[in-house]
Amino acid sequence: MTQTAKSHSDQVTLTQFIIEQQRGLPDASGTFTLLLNNIVIACKQISHRVNRGALIGVLGSAGSENVQGEVQKKLDIITNDIMVRALDWGGHLGGMASEEIDDPIKIPKQYPKGKYLVLFDPLDGSSNIDINLTVGTIFSVLRCREGVEPETEDFLRKGTEQVCAGFVLYGPSTMLVLTTGNGVNGFTLDQDIGEFILTHRNMRIPEETSEFAINMSNQRFWEPPVKRYIDECIAGQEGPRGKNFNMRWVASLVADVYRILNRGGVFLYPFDLRDPERPGKLRLMYEANPMAFIIEQAGGLCSTGAERVLDIKPHDIHQRVPLIFGSKNEVERLIDYYQQPTNN
Ligand code: AHG
Ligand code: MN
Ligand code: MN
Repeated sequence: MTQTAKSHSDQVTLTQFIIEQQRGLPDASGTFTLLLNNIVIACKQISHRVNRGALIGVLGSAGSENVQGEVQKKLDIITNDIMVRALDWGGHLGGMASEEIDDPIKIPKQYPKGKYLVLFDPLDGSSNIDINLTVGTIFSVLRCREGVEPETEDFLRKGTEQVCAGFVLYGPSTMLVLTTGNGVNGFTLDQDIGEFILTHRNMRIPEETSEFAINMSNQRFWEPPVKRYIDECIAGQEGPRGKNFNMRWVASLVADVYRILNRGGVFLYPFDLRDPERPGKLRLMYEANPMAFIIEQAGGLCSTGAERVLDIKPHDIHQRVPLIFGSKNEVERLIDYYQQPTNN
């Protein structure tokens, strides 16, 4: 089918979409819409910076390290500052937490506090930024007890408590993927008018797939269930699965999730035996939880292998978790392999 451009009168903007969705909720005050609007403004600014790249001198390393001991890119810091500045003044937030900042970020005294908390990974896939591959911003919204100055413990809530999760992809198109617990919708930034337009309504992950995503260089550190699963995929038509598999690994979680939302697949950044202090690479509060919410809302599954990601009770704001998600049938198979004692 050939795609034709829609006339502007058919287009639904993100703002219209959210306002119409909120109208259906009895206690919606419009605050959430304003909060989301500020997140979106930050992401448009980030999109612009990422797009200008070397022209405005934002590529390369900043020479500093974050709490995880990872070397920060200049854009890790710039995008973090953009998010904080776009969100701290609005009066919708009790506080924020960022992958790039050690402790939760307080709302400056001069601004009112609100009823939400936002957690974010301001630049996901930042190792790809200098080679001009897709990067993104991931965010998660929780409710905040009103009138309290939130401490770290107030952020340590299960993924099931998220009221909204989303990510913005800075790729060939800039796209926003969003859930408020009522399915997943995708919006494309129309650069000419500066608005996100609904282009991917009710995204659903196909249950069947023949595509997996994993960093194969870590193979020697994997646990037996993961080894077995990948071996069987690679054995292809002649192996126990009786079909050939394809592999993709962008090394930008946002891009790998977006591909899986569109055409299915399974993603693994599993527990590995390198360092028991670091069970997996991806961060629960800024990456795993928001993506798990989106994946489940699109009909997929998200697990550590041992438990549902959204059910994890967090103990550290920067904790890492093993992550396996995507097409339902494949994730179920992996969970089954983890449950078989002979595999462990
Ligand atoms: P970040 O850039 O926010 O630190 O996240 C990078 C993550 C994620 O986007 C990706 O899936 C994974 O790291 C890639 O890991 P490898 O470098 O091990 O492939
Ligand atoms: Mn990340
Ligand atoms: Mn990051």
